[in-house]
Amino acid sequence: MAGGIGSRFWPLSTQKFPKQFQDILGTGRTMIQQTYDRISKLIPKENIFVITNKEYVALSHQQLPEIPEANIVGEPLVKNTSACNLYMANKIGELNPDATLIVLPADHLILKEDVFLEKVKLALNLASKNDYLITLGIVPTRPETGYRYIQYVESRQSDLHKVKTLTEKPILELANTFLESGDFLWNAGIFIWNIKTIHKAFEDFLPEMTQQFTSCEYNSESEISCIETIYPKIQKISIDNGILEKAENVHVIPADLGWSDLGTWRSVFENSEKDENNNANPHKHSLSYNSSGNIIHLKNVNKAVIVDGLNDFIVVDTDKVLLICPRDHDQCIKDYVLDLKNLK
Ligand code: GDD
Ligand code: MG
Repeated sequence: MAGGIGSRFWPLSTQKFPKQFQDILGTGRTMIQQTYDRISKLIPKENIFVITNKEYVALSHQQLPEIPEANIVGEPLVKNTSACNLYMANKIGELNPDATLIVLPADHLILKEDVFLEKVKLALNLASKNDYLITLGIVPTRPETGYRYIQYVESRQSDLHKVKTLTEKPILELANTFLESGDFLWNAGIFIWNIKTIHKAFEDFLPEMTQQFTSCEYNSESEISCIETIYPKIQKISIDNGILEKAENVHVIPADLGWSDLGTWRSVFENSEKDENNNANPHKHSLSYNSSGNIIHLKNVNKAVIVDGLNDFIVVDTDKVLLICPRDHDQCIKDYVLDLKNLK
């Protein structure tokens, strides 16, 4: 899934060039390329699909030339993750009704690739034989308010546990309670299920959407025009809210992946290499004096930045915008974008 805009990541992530297509940590590979690199160790490239907005289809081809062109699918509108999951389940299900799917967000950092591959193998194996909706769960390390929390019934026999409750983006107080109780996991947003099970879930919980998508003929000449016709009427809802919160067959596999949803500048700061003064400068072209705790990100590699006496700030320089704000104000970035639009 690579159709989000990543608005908390402005000004680096923009509607034209969202974060999944950027090399945010300075590793030489963009987020979507890293996602491909990881999963292609397990899944042949012919079986890897990208579902994104039609605006990003060309960019996806450019960054992932290994994937067959027909596997890069564009949506006409941003309708959140229920629609894109149903679209892909229909399209892939038409090619192979017995397929088992793994759904990956294109913008995650996973440091422990071996653990990731091991857990994915286990999940694919279980999902191919059972009518489970499986998600990977991460042991929380802080009261994060940007993720969904999973409460589960512990199974003594296996690594797979039945999910009891799901709570999306709780307020800080609740997140603290979840963290302290030790009974909760973060939902990583990585899902594993077979075609029949996910179709049944859509029929049960999003019957109208199922009906709308059924009217199209997949992998045919009419697919694109049919999708263009139905999309304006499709409900905008996440798969977490549309399906997982309501279904009884949701299961979780805890996975210590060294995982982070690189959703905010704070998370990039936390996951970047730091210099001796705790400054993160992923692209290594800034000089810092008497400064600590800053993240400095420049889009233009021919430019240098020098800071002196600056502490705990975000500095992001792009062609159009220079952003300088305290590191702990990173959740305000969405508001800056709105205000800037009004200014224009
Ligand atoms: N194709 C497509 N179409 N992709 C989309 C769309 C869409 O309309 N909307 C979002 N995506 C993609 C994003 O690019 C991202 O890769 C993924 O779907 C998840 O969307 P986000 O917008 O990043 O969701 P989130 O971070 O708020 O929440 C999800 O992830 C959390 C963990 O990172 C949820 O699954 C939470 O429950 C979870 O905790
Ligand atoms: Mg996200």
